[in-house]
Amino acid sequence: MSFDARELRNALGRFATGVCVITTVSDAQQAVGMTANSFSSVSLDPPLLLWCLQNNSDVYDIFARPRYFAVNILSSEQQAHSNQYAKKGQHELDAAHFHLGKYGSPVIRNALATFECELEVAHEGGDHLVILGRVREMHQRSTGEPLLFYSGGYHELR
Ligand SMILES: Cc1cc2nc3c(=O)[nH]c(=O)nc-3n(C[C@H](O)[C@H](O)[C@H](O)COP(=O)(O)O)c2cc1C
Repeated sequence: MSFDARELRNALGRFATGVCVITTVSDAQQAVGMTANSFSSVSLDPPLLLWCLQNNSDVYDIFARPRYFAVNILSSEQQAHSNQYAKKGQHELDAAHFHLGKYGSPVIRNALATFECELEVAHEGGDHLVILGRVREMHQRSTGEPLLFYSGGYHELR
């Protein structure tokens, strides 16, 4: 390789994304969430999406194998949620932040959109696990602006 990991991370960070909190309920019945920007839509028919989970996460086992999970797209007013659920050891969801959706996954209140998914398949992808979900239920707000992540920092549409 003629570049190091930091250079690669910086270059990849030039792709602007939204910010999500991925949620699920653990085997111990704890509602958990993790901030992620690796979300991507994959297919409309069937309705598939993906996100990538780092292999060295403390909560890898909770997020790698649940039958159901939800992808919650954060609004520009939810930067505090993004910071909170990106902290090591801080993945337990605050009860005020969610309600349980039709398929039992936590739906973040006031998110721009939430996709309740059933895990379709997971593929190893280097130091991440690529998790594909089949969308089973969807919720969306008709108003609100997205929280954006670009070059290692938060941004808003202008
Ligand atoms: C904006 C942002 C995007 C992130 N995207 C991802 C992601 O797509 N996948 C991932 O596994 N971790 C992602 N993280 C890191 C996790 O949110 C979290 O910091 C990490 O999981 C903490 O370590 P732990 O999992 O061992 O608790 C992201 C963090 C931030 C702030």
